[in-house]
Amino acid sequence: MKKLTGNINVGVFISGRGSNLKELIKYSKKNNTNWKIKLVISNKKEAKGLAYAKKNRIINYGIENMKPQFEKKALRHLKKNKINLLCLAGFMKILSKEFIKKSKFKIINIHPSLLPKYKGLNTHERAIKAGDKYAGSTVHYVTAKLDSGKKILQTKVKILKKDKPNSLANRVLKAEHIIYPKAVDIVCNKII
Ligand code: GAR
Repeated sequence: MKKLTGNINVGVFISGRGSNLKELIKYSKKNNTNWKIKLVISNKKEAKGLAYAKKNRIINYGIENMKPQFEKKALRHLKKNKINLLCLAGFMKILSKEFIKKSKFKIINIHPSLLPKYKGLNTHERAIKAGDKYAGSTVHYVTAKLDSGKKILQTKVKILKKDKPNSLANRVLKAEHIIYPKAVDIVCNKII
């Protein structure tokens, strides 16, 4: 994989709320980064994040197809828009090995746990049940194996006695909003 330099076109895949997408857009504008969000794709047409992309005049598509069709269409848009880096931000589908192989760009993801702990779903509930002292979030490279690629950044959040999965998720989300743009900076070789 080639090192990313120069002006980097970033694509983002989302499935819903899109608060991480929002923070990525805000950060890149505020800090005049060498990367810009050029394309947003959601596998749900009603995703709130799509409306936010529209408001910011970012090319956006809602593609509600089964996986092979979704991936084929998405790949076409990614190529057409010369995307160098794909960020998964609350994207709740698992990309196929074929898609990952065919991608000539880097793919990164944010996952709400201290990986390698709690891959998959219900991470906060599982961390509370296990009696863990800390939860957190990890930005990592995407490989064909679920939530298993090399770590880029990780942030820890203390689990409080009174925490329910929702309250913990809210605090972790705030931490995600800080680390995801920083992780993109790292991947895009900007010194932070
Ligand atoms: C985030 O907490 C993200 O880590 C998680 O979904 C949330 C999306 O929020 N991602 C996953 O669980 C992926 N396995 P957002 O739509 O507001 O950015």
